[in-house]
Amino acid sequence: MAALSVNIATDNMLLHILFLSGALATCPQESNLFITVPQMEALSGSCLQIPCNFSAEPEIPLNNSNYVGLWTIDDSNHKPNIVVFSSKNTVNIYPMNITGNLSEKDCTTLFSSLNINYTNTYYFRIETNGTFRATAICDPLQITVTDSPPIPRIEISGDLKEKESVTISCSASTPCPHSPPKLTWNLQQDPPNNIEENTDRTFTTKIQETITLSDTHDGFTINCSATYPVNEGREVKTAEERKTLNVSYAPKDTSVSISPSGLVSAGSWVNLTCYSRAKPPASFSWFKNSKDGAIRVAEGDFYSFNVTDVTDGDYYCVATNNLGNETSSTIHLNVKAESPDPSLPLEPVIGGIIGIIVLISLVSQTGEELTVKEPARKTQEEEEEKEEDIHYGEIDFSKQRPEASSSSEQDSGQQQDTLYAQVKVSQTANSRTQTADSPEDLYAQVKKK
Ligand SMILES: *[C@@H]1O[C@H](CO)[C@@H](O)[C@H](O)[C@H]1NC(C)=O
Ligand SMILES: *[C@@H]1O[C@H](CO)[C@@H](O)[C@H](O)[C@H]1NC(C)=O
Ligand SMILES: *[C@@H]1O[C@H](CO)[C@@H](O)[C@H](O)[C@H]1NC(C)=O
Ligand SMILES: *[C@@H]1O[C@H](CO)[C@@H](O)[C@H](O)[C@H]1NC(C)=O
Ligand SMILES: *[C@@H]1O[C@H](CO)[C@@H](O)[C@H](O)[C@H]1NC(C)=O
Ligand SMILES: *[C@@H]1O[C@H](CO)[C@@H](O)[C@H](O)[C@H]1NC(C)=O
Ligand SMILES: *[C@@H]1O[C@H](CO)[C@@H](O)[C@H](O)[C@H]1NC(C)=O
Ligand SMILES: *[C@@H]1O[C@H](CO)[C@@H](O)[C@H](O)[C@H]1NC(C)=O
Ligand SMILES: *[C@@H]1O[C@H](CO)[C@@H](O)[C@H](O)[C@H]1NC(C)=O
Ligand SMILES: *[C@@H]1O[C@H](CO)[C@@H](O)[C@H](O)[C@H]1NC(C)=O
Ligand SMILES: *[C@@H]1O[C@H](CO)[C@@H](O)[C@H](O)[C@H]1NC(C)=O
Repeated sequence: MAALSVNIATDNMLLHILFLSGALATCPQESNLFITVPQMEALSGSCLQIPCNFSAEPEIPLNNSNYVGLWTIDDSNHKPNIVVFSSKNTVNIYPMNITGNLSEKDCTTLFSSLNINYTNTYYFRIETNGTFRATAICDPLQITVTDSPPIPRIEISGDLKEKESVTISCSASTPCPHSPPKLTWNLQQDPPNNIEENTDRTFTTKIQETITLSDTHDGFTINCSATYPVNEGREVKTAEERKTLNVSYAPKDTSVSISPSGLVSAGSWVNLTCYSRAKPPASFSWFKNSKDGAIRVAEGDFYSFNVTDVTDGDYYCVATNNLGNETSSTIHLNVKAESPDPSLPLEPVIGGIIGIIVLISLVSQTGEELTVKEPARKTQEEEEEKEEDIHYGEIDFSKQRPEASSSSEQDSGQQQDTLYAQVKVSQTANSRTQTADSPEDLYAQVKKK
């Protein structure tokens, strides 16, 4: 499970706060005031709450409640002398306010309604009643105002395997907890948004959902949107993140196909193919049922062999991956007997049609009556596979044999010959009546001829 990579374009109008922690070691100047602020992002048109605490060397006498906190920026000489906010003023240049209790060394600052012009480096300063004055020169606060909202993060706890229960969350940084983003996603309608305080005292808005994974979740793309109100809620800015679930699952829909289907003659090749849906892809084993139970006969999805009498029987395959296995249904290999049953309809359609023509000429010659039977010779399987119905008409001469004649020997030879007519019946009721000749119709046609 790869960690989400947040792609923040360089032109994003975000507010970055950069705190150069441990700056004392590299700070070229002497300092006796230090602040801690976390790194965070914020959005123009919104506010920014900057968690901040400070300490001073020497200790600021805590009995003096008359602290003044200030934020300053550099002047043209690169000295942090321009005071943009002072807690002793009621009106300030910048829309800032120290909301923390300075007596508790809390310099938490709220920057309301940011805009691009507030991009700058800020320095915190403390003044007491004339007795203490210090600037946190080694702990600058870099604020960069940008215009695009931060992209939410989608995180998934646990293994992406079927039957695993995983918690999927989407969270968005919340630089302005007074006006948090609204998170929505395609996992649930109106998810409850929770605002959490982080250990560094920044805030995160989060939605989450626990789901039990199945193979149907594989390939599902989670789409999470964070909508930030800006300009006192008159407008919104939206950022979106997507993550596609890659769920592993045991083999499913394992099935076998045989080619050629139906009867195969000994000495010909037959191909068995096993199919399965699995992630990671399955490996396959072939089994043949025997008196002594199933015997493993081959490996791989494709099993091809030369048909002999001993290969006749029931076959199945088992698809296996690291999550499990699945057995296909059994397929029966029908090996054609040495002397095939002559009553089976093996002749092709054209043969059948020719048969009819031959029959017609025979009938017109002899003037014999004939009946047409219509036995359903096709198997259930064929019926399902073929779109056109094929009707086999069996024309039996035996019943209409003349009593006794000089041609009786000839007739007895014909007696065993059964001719089949295949009549294609198309699906529309109209053409069915035209082509699906009833025995009587066929008889009538024969008579006319
Ligand atoms: C701010 O508070 C944190 C946590 O209490 C502390 O570790 C850190 O040293 C403080 N920062 C300053 C500058 O005192
Ligand atoms: C504040 O405390 C300092 C010592 O920490 C002491 O010298 C000073 O008198 C105190 N001031 C007040 C007003 O209590
Ligand atoms: C600044 O914050 C303090 C403390 O939260 C509050 O009492 C005061 O009204 C705020 N001032 C402004 C101008 O927002
Ligand atoms: C600030 O903290 C001090 C010391 O804990 C407390 O006495 C004072 O009431 C606090 N001020 C505010 C405005 O909460
Ligand atoms: C930023 O400052 C410039 C010049 O000081 C001003 O014209 C502009 O309106 C300001 N932009 C915003 C968003 O306040
Ligand atoms: C500064 O401290 C002196 C005495 O310690 C006191 O008289 C004065 O009122 C204080 N000034 C402010 C602004 O608190
Ligand atoms: C993601 O969801 C948002 C709304 O929640 C929708 O506007 C957006 O079209 C979706 N994006 C995709 C790729 O489905
Ligand atoms: C999905 O996970 C499998 C491991 O289960 C891995 O081999 C495959 O590369 C992943 N696919 C994608 C698109 O991340
Ligand atoms: C069996 O598979 C082989 C190799 O793919 C192919 O050449 C042959 O035509 C197949 N035979 C049948 C009956 O499908
Ligand atoms: C199948 O095996 C038989 C007996 O070994 C052989 O005579 C025949 O040629 C084989 N058929 C094919 C298509 O290889
Ligand atoms: C299929 O999995 C079961 C356990 O789930 C195991 O007993 C069996 O041997 C496996 N079959 C194959 C062919 O791997």
